[in-house]
Amino acid sequence: MTQASAKQKRDILVTSALPYANGPIHLGHLLEYIQTDIWTRYQKLRGHTCYYVCADDAHGTAIMLRAEREGITPEQLIDRIRQEHQQDFGDFLIRFDNYYTTHSEENRQFSEFIYRQLQQNDHIATRTITQSFDPEKNMFLADRFIKGTCPKCKTDDQYGDNCEVCGATYSPTELINPRSAVSGATPIEKESEHFFFKLPDFADFLAKWTRSGTLQPQVANKLAEWLDAGLHDWDISRDAPYFGFEVPDAPGKYFYVWLDAPIGYLASFKNLCVREGIDFEHFWKADSSAEVYHFIGKDIINFHALFWPAILHDTGFRTPTAVWAHGFVTVNGKKMSKSRGTFIMARTYLDFLNPEYLRYYFAAKLTGGVDDMDLNLDDFAARVNSDLVGKVVNIASRSAGFISKRFDGKLGEVTEIDKLNEFINAGEELAGYYENREFGRAMRRIMELADIANQYVNDEQPWVVAKQEGEDEKLQAICTNALNMFRLLMTYLAPVLPKTADASESFLNAKLDWNNRAELLQDHGINKFQPLMSRVDMAQIEKMLDASKEQLPATKTPAEATPETPLEPISPEIEFDDFAKVDLRVVKIIKAEHVKGADKLLRLTLDVGHGERNVFAGIKSAYAPEELEGRLTVMVANLKARKMKFGLSEGMVLAAGPGGKDIFILSPDSGATPGMRIM
Ligand code: MSP
Ligand code: ZN
Repeated sequence: MTQASAKQKRDILVTSALPYANGPIHLGHLLEYIQTDIWTRYQKLRGHTCYYVCADDAHGTAIMLRAEREGITPEQLIDRIRQEHQQDFGDFLIRFDNYYTTHSEENRQFSEFIYRQLQQNDHIATRTITQSFDPEKNMFLADRFIKGTCPKCKTDDQYGDNCEVCGATYSPTELINPRSAVSGATPIEKESEHFFFKLPDFADFLAKWTRSGTLQPQVANKLAEWLDAGLHDWDISRDAPYFGFEVPDAPGKYFYVWLDAPIGYLASFKNLCVREGIDFEHFWKADSSAEVYHFIGKDIINFHALFWPAILHDTGFRTPTAVWAHGFVTVNGKKMSKSRGTFIMARTYLDFLNPEYLRYYFAAKLTGGVDDMDLNLDDFAARVNSDLVGKVVNIASRSAGFISKRFDGKLGEVTEIDKLNEFINAGEELAGYYENREFGRAMRRIMELADIANQYVNDEQPWVVAKQEGEDEKLQAICTNALNMFRLLMTYLAPVLPKTADASESFLNAKLDWNNRAELLQDHGINKFQPLMSRVDMAQIEKMLDASKEQLPATKTPAEATPETPLEPISPEIEFDDFAKVDLRVVKIIKAEHVKGADKLLRLTLDVGHGERNVFAGIKSAYAPEELEGRLTVMVANLKARKMKFGLSEGMVLAAGPGGKDIFILSPDSGATPGMRIM
């Protein structure tokens, strides 16, 4: 009997949070998708029915404004970003069963259905609120789209809700000299009718639900604090202009992005069900025996553990079996930072390093808890090299050669029954770790087994036995034992290292089958060994960090500010002497060229009056190269040259404008001569 048939087959639906469609995937995001992918691959390998669905979170003001800045429709923007996201996830070996978008017909239907249901059950309130309004752009402004002078410390250019300098919190109306981050206009106060979800109606339900084993203990405790403090109505509508779904029977009102985002889980799954003939109801009806899990980051717990279960509970759906939060990724002990080069995009990583390295490193450090996770790049290289290359792959490379050279690729008999039984039995313990998301423990236990296997090979010294007369059978047995150990290790690592697992299957000419792992390979033909994984090269890590710095365009314009943070705050004050060090010169653009492989950069050859300079500038969105030749611009002439992915950049050109197509460089006839100093 196999282990699988002794256990009940489970029906499982798994989700990761839906990434915003307004920016690229970075290594912080990847912690979540890698964690979820490992868990779902594990469930599938155990023979359970398990679907993993996700989607881009496509709605909201930020996406609308970004599309406008780029001069395209929001639909065009979200299509492009979704393709990029899917490419990134695919290359990191994240295997979704469906990757959809929240801007879908399915999602509109579910959102409308749920809203009408909530309305019918009297959980929607209508109230008039007063909000800041941009009279130029004709739009209401969320707090983060208003900037002004901090009422407390008087620092200029602070966000509408808190000051980054003194930490004060306030309401946007308290800002001195407030202005819209969208248009620069002075906001006015304006009334508008909004719809609210009456969350307090669900206080009792939530008190029970959050304590019923659906949440990690730390998370349940945090929620208990919120519940004790009292719940508030949740504003679920936004006024036009907004990119989203219009509220039924309320023209000009849209669902707030966070209302339809989790409903996107239902919609993505529905889309899969229709395509593959899966029974949607079975997973989502109120008393479903199937399991539903949401993997999320700790910053979005309130949406998933309060609003979402309350909404599902009230509208006839089942609630999630569990919501599992993880912590945040830091790099080298600090928050990911663009200037340090540690704000690493998925694509930049992929340009330099093997995705399985990161999958293993995250797995080795993941627990079932919500602690933050530090990606220490020295530790990353050391751990991958010592564990995967030094321990696991090494076992195969030390034994495979003898089998192909001396035994025509054929394994013999297994003789180390006890040792191999330890490997087989460890599967139960490892299963528990995977199930509980204690991936770090699983990796440690697997490496203990790898140590045993390496010790075995060291003790038996096949390279010595190989030289002895008449010891063929012994040599073949040693290698057969070792390769069976290797096979079990790879079976256990398969959820983390799917590609190496595939390559190992080809090499061993046999499936890695967790449930039938007690069936060992004996008298079995294997294929020629191919190197399975190479060492992490520190030089590649350095290059990745350099390239991450370089993604900042050499021109600094507000385009750099993400849509979430409409304008960058003014940097700390500097002395006049500091400023005087900056040598600003008028320069002439002699040549402008596209840079192969760069989305934003143009290569400029500049006449500085004292010779020529090569500078990379992030102005491709605004100018075609031929428009630039012959024009003048201002450059920082004494900036230390920087090595970039594409070559040396000898200075920085200055430009102004909101970004996208609107970045401006001086005109050719401004009367300035190349080399003239400004000041
Ligand atoms: N769109 C919402 C989620 C809607 S779910 C119905 C959102 N998107 S996000 O792109 O900002 O984040 C997606 C996921 O990535 C979230 O779970 C978030 O916690 C996670 N992470 C984003 N940055 C992260 C780190 N630096 N570290 C770890 N996880 C991080 O939130
Ligand atoms: Zn302040």
